[in-house]
Amino acid sequence: MNSLALAGIIVGGIAFIMAIKQITRCIELKREWHAERAASSAAQPASGTRSQYNVELESVNRFLDGILREKPARFTAENLREFTGGYAERVGSGGFGVVYRGRFPNGVAVAVKVLNGTLDRRAEEQFMAEVGTAGRTYHINLVRLYGFCFDASVKALVYEFLPNGSLDRVLFDPPNKPTPMPMPAGRGVLGFETLLGIVVGTARGIRYLHEECQHRIIHYDIKPGNVLLAEDYSPKVADFGLARLCNRDKTHLTMTGGARGTPGYAAPELWLPLPVTHKCDVYSFGMLVFEILGRRQNYVVEEHAALSGQEWYPKWVWQRFEEGRFEEVMAASGIMGEDGEKAERMCKVALWCVQYRPEARPAMSSVVRMLEGEEEIARPVNPFSYMAGLHAISSSGGDGSASSFSGDSANRSSALSQ
Ligand SMILES: Nc1ncnc2c1ncn2[C@@H]1O[C@H](COP(=O)(O)OP(=O)(O)OP(=O)(O)O)[C@@H](O)[C@H]1O
Ligand SMILES: [Mg+2]
Repeated sequence: MNSLALAGIIVGGIAFIMAIKQITRCIELKREWHAERAASSAAQPASGTRSQYNVELESVNRFLDGILREKPARFTAENLREFTGGYAERVGSGGFGVVYRGRFPNGVAVAVKVLNGTLDRRAEEQFMAEVGTAGRTYHINLVRLYGFCFDASVKALVYEFLPNGSLDRVLFDPPNKPTPMPMPAGRGVLGFETLLGIVVGTARGIRYLHEECQHRIIHYDIKPGNVLLAEDYSPKVADFGLARLCNRDKTHLTMTGGARGTPGYAAPELWLPLPVTHKCDVYSFGMLVFEILGRRQNYVVEEHAALSGQEWYPKWVWQRFEEGRFEEVMAASGIMGEDGEKAERMCKVALWCVQYRPEARPAMSSVVRMLEGEEEIARPVNPFSYMAGLHAISSSGGDGSASSFSGDSANRSSALSQ
């Protein structure tokens, strides 16, 4: 064998060995790839569910974005002008300012409440605090605050729009005017069941403010004008952050002197030098229930009402109730048949809510249970006995201070939890 042949054998052998090595490496790589694939498919859903997994991720992301968006937004005066089409449609006005109808660019209807005048420094701070509270308070029976505007020229709040307006508009016809009495049966657009639903829903909204949200919120101004109605007439309590915001005029008592609320609905402790608690809302709620029961304003000065002793409806109802003549209350409101029992329950709850002494009034959770028939209602005691004392003091020139009042002689039932 010559040296050339020997070199050929050696090179061929080396090439053969390298080829074998390459083939072995390829087999190893393939094995590793299969093993990795098996491991990753064990950690992930099968390819069929992977797209489903992506879809779920998308919906979780949408949900999280939604949470972030739920903070009340800050708008500019220009934004508000756009939303309201230059403040074209005025839907009403109240103690705080004028309310306009508007629409977000995505079509969602809004109510823009432009606050009166300028706020002082304290009120400005409070505006922010209230926006923080109301903007993070969610309940089906509370009006949603979408955002606000706070710049040099405009201070405004942007709420969800409730298409059926406020309860006073559907309850009293014409709005805000005393109604002729007695009521024709079936008067008004709302039937008894709907009205009862409004009472219960409103009670649940206030219960949330008092007992279920992180910090107790006292409304101070519960009244039909602050209960707004959705398309299906379910109620939503409005303005629960505003009551401590502005000084009020006209029909509203000024808050700087310590008095709050609206006459007729404000609890005695709001206009007397007595400590004020969340129970002032329970009193106002009771007055609202009377107005729903009677489908009239509680106080009317018309001749017919005066002749039949019905000027002050709650007292007239108490007298009928005390004398066992509740059917007269039902007849005056056109309530018939099976609704009578529910109406009587409503009436008893209202009588408990308007007790003179705050501690005699039930907690809102108890109110809800009583209205729903889940809690027995003790026989109410006279909520108006203090009025005799008040009359005596005013006619004897007394100063009307709290210590002059005897209060009622309520034997508060154990059924009424605080
Ligand atoms: N979110 C809303 N959706 C639809 N209408 C509304 C809304 N907010 C207010 N309104 C309408 O505007 C009117 C005025 O509301 P506003 O809250 O300013 O006054 P008020 O409730 O009568 O008194 P207050 O100043 O004590 O709240 C209401 O009676 C209601 O008809
Ligand atoms: Mg209001």
